[in-house]
Amino acid sequence: MENTLDLSQTPETNRGDSLESKRAFIRANTRLGRVEGLEQNGPGGTGPMQIWQADEITPIWTATDADLEHKGIEPPFWAFPWAGGQAVARLVLERPALVAGKRVLDIATGSGMIAIAAAWAGAAQVLANDIDPLCEAAVSLNAEANGVAIDWLGGNLLDRPPPDIDVILAGDIFYQKQMAQQFLDWLGRATARGTLVYAGDPGRAYAPRDATPPLAEYDIETNLDLESVTRRRARVWRL
Ligand SMILES: C[S@@+](CC[C@H](N)C(=O)[O-])C[C@H]1O[C@@H](n2cnc3c(N)ncnc32)[C@H](O)[C@@H]1O
Repeated sequence: MENTLDLSQTPETNRGDSLESKRAFIRANTRLGRVEGLEQNGPGGTGPMQIWQADEITPIWTATDADLEHKGIEPPFWAFPWAGGQAVARLVLERPALVAGKRVLDIATGSGMIAIAAAWAGAAQVLANDIDPLCEAAVSLNAEANGVAIDWLGGNLLDRPPPDIDVILAGDIFYQKQMAQQFLDWLGRATARGTLVYAGDPGRAYAPRDATPPLAEYDIETNLDLESVTRRRARVWRL
């Protein structure tokens, strides 16, 4: 695999390319790798979670912002298991009763990592949402790689009332001021209608500071180039 962005495989994501071409793009530009600390250990199977991700030897790692922008591709958030999301996924695997038998939405899903953990933990139905159209392909590839079924829900859900669902899980959504406030308002409306909401965060600038004590805390290994540190303390709150 060449260490450059494989433009021949580039989907025109904002121009309605097929799901299959987006999946081909992800397979050509990332590689399947395990996520440390996330293990399936149940009747459905055993083994580490694996997701299609970027690292130093994959073409998408070296693509510049200009390369991506030129091809109409958003920054590839779906190509990394973010620390806040890893914390939520760990909590769900440690305490499957939080989601078992329930209808669960993983909002701002990125790779689908949290959704996969919820499916492993026995959720009755798992929906995944993200505004980036490439996430649909990432989620479908990652669901396949981990032997689960996840339903895709596209578009910006923050524009409408929260859905009728039992549990909402959210990982690493507090890194931009306006976005964080929009999520907090919308998730607040979800809790007001009786949905249980769990959010994980590794100390981003706009995480709520006045939240109740966290349900769980984890030391998560992070990528030095992405995060400027090799570990982050990530916490999960019930909002
Ligand atoms: C840092 S990533 C976290 C991804 C994943 N939850 C994880 O922890 O690995 C943030 C994600 O939020 C998504 N996002 C941003 N605004 C959104 C919105 N209004 N609705 C849904 N997803 C959104 C981005 O596209 C991106 O995939």
